[in-house]
Amino acid sequence: MEIIVLGREDIKKILELDKVIEGVRKVYCLKSEGKTVVWPSLEYHFEEEKAVMDIRSGYVKDENLHGAKMLNNFPLNIELGIPSFCGMLLVFDSKTGVPLGVMDAAYITSMRTGAAAALGVKALARKDSKNLLIVGSGLQSIYMLAATLIAMPQIEKVRIADPFKYENAVKFAENAIERLTNEFKIENLDKIEFCAVKDLSEALNDTDAVITITRATSPIIKKEWVKPGTHFSCIGADMIGKEEIDPEIFRDARIFADDIVQCISFGEMEIPYKMGIITRESIAGELGEVLSGKIEGRKTDDEITIFDATGLALLDLVTGKVAIDLAKEKGLGTIVEI
Ligand SMILES: NC(=O)c1ccc[n+]([C@@H]2O[C@H](COP(=O)([O-])OP(=O)(O)OC[C@H]3O[C@@H](n4cnc5c(N)ncnc54)[C@H](O)[C@@H]3O)[C@@H](O)[C@H]2O)c1
Repeated sequence: MEIIVLGREDIKKILELDKVIEGVRKVYCLKSEGKTVVWPSLEYHFEEEKAVMDIRSGYVKDENLHGAKMLNNFPLNIELGIPSFCGMLLVFDSKTGVPLGVMDAAYITSMRTGAAAALGVKALARKDSKNLLIVGSGLQSIYMLAATLIAMPQIEKVRIADPFKYENAVKFAENAIERLTNEFKIENLDKIEFCAVKDLSEALNDTDAVITITRATSPIIKKEWVKPGTHFSCIGADMIGKEEIDPEIFRDARIFADDIVQCISFGEMEIPYKMGIITRESIAGELGEVLSGKIEGRKTDDEITIFDATGLALLDLVTGKVAIDLAKEKGLGTIVEI
């Protein structure tokens, strides 16, 4: 039996962010129609290495795809000069169980996560939104920014904050145009202002949409800083105990999940749910239901909207299958007999 093996560099040559956004939109809609299955996820913390691995898996019925992704985050690798964020994605044909491909999962994860954050902003932020705030200036942040600028071409000002190291936000803002142009082929960026911010309370006075993408385990945004009408795409909290925004922000907000079970178990909703600030009934629904027109997203210009995205293997599987098909077309990757 032959399968294709794809490395990170192969995948980088093939995947285009606008197509990934469209693929993720389609999977969210399929999920809202009951055409997907999300299997329970698993995580393990390596004490000595201060590291964590997680396994996510699922089944996309219409695409005849199922599979699993194992991601490792070993932050101490930086000192060894090797990547801290590594993983593998396995894609199978669901009609036969035959494996279709094995590939690097880190780049696909970043691309589909950016797409998820951006779809949350596009579907739930006010249509006249112009000011975007990205909280976190780590590895994933550029993907959040790139996808949001593709999905929301009306954005005029992007602020970047780093709760740990302001200098990293400054560096991120300085390099943003070059990276967006070279890595994502985004044009017409000269009309957008990119700047680093130190004071989140001040920045939130004038922010329409916020994407949180940090490793925080306690809130970095307080409720009293948030003005009516703000949208949040909360992406960083993808495991038990992670938390980026004040649980009180959830109290009167219109809230959406990528997957309700995952979000209340280990997403940004975990803590407000455990505290009793929200119940299952307070969750308006899943983003796919908004994207497929089943439920209303934002109802008024004044309400606060929150999209909690914990990450679904479904997104990786569909993106991985696109990469497999394009690689075969372009003669990239390595065919291996197994
Ligand atoms: N939801 C998803 O689908 C998904 C996908 C990929 C990554 N993630 C999560 O996104 C987060 C960011 O990932 P990354 O690869 O960019 O990480 P990274 O380590 O490259 O960057 C992390 C950012 O968070 C800040 N930070 C670190 N610890 C913090 C703390 N205790 N409090 C406040 N800020 C802190 C850092 O200064 C930096 O700006 C992680 O929690 C990761 O697990 C979620």
